[in-house]
Amino acid sequence: MTKRVAILISGGGSNMVALAQSMCGDHPARPVLVLSNDPLAAGLAKARALNIPTCAIDHKPYGKDRAGFEAALQQTLETAQPDIICLAGFMRILTPEFTAKWEGRMLNIHPSLLPKYKGLHTHTRALEAGDTAHGCTVHEVTAALDDGPILGQARMKVRADDTPDTLAARLLPLEHALYPAVLRRFAAGDRTPVMLDR
Ligand code: GRF
Repeated sequence: MTKRVAILISGGGSNMVALAQSMCGDHPARPVLVLSNDPLAAGLAKARALNIPTCAIDHKPYGKDRAGFEAALQQTLETAQPDIICLAGFMRILTPEFTAKWEGRMLNIHPSLLPKYKGLHTHTRALEAGDTAHGCTVHEVTAALDDGPILGQARMKVRADDTPDTLAARLLPLEHALYPAVLRRFAAGDRTPVMLDR
């Protein structure tokens, strides 16, 4: 049976577009919802252009009330009935109560070779550490931030003249290759990690 995929974004949504465009033909999944916590996220218009239903749940009116925000999120997701949730540049930290509801069904992409550099500023941290390789990771979402079983990694070489910006720019196309490759496998019930080396 075709799997239903909801994609959660906060910004430009380039990973969302890569995921959505990959779900065609004999792919075992289809996008059913793109949801943003920012009503102004550029990715929402891109999703509409791809004929995917969209929804914005602004987190700001909820202030510190994470449970309230997540209740609204949960209600929208229950209506869309996704089998799989893909976090794609979704910049809200989710509570353990929320992640528990979707454990085993929720994926995230993170711009580092996890377990290195959980959290923010991954490119700067890789350069400061003198790393010769950098990359991105798709993993299952668990209660701990940027943790959870690794489902795939794409790796690239760091160049002597790299800056955080050049690393980010070179990494993005790798994210766009890795995430759809992992989703295809995951939707088919295969959790064998996808490893890309560029
Ligand atoms: C990506 O680099 C992702 O790894 C990071 O935020 C960026 C999202 O970009 N967490 P986009 O919204 O998919 O274009």
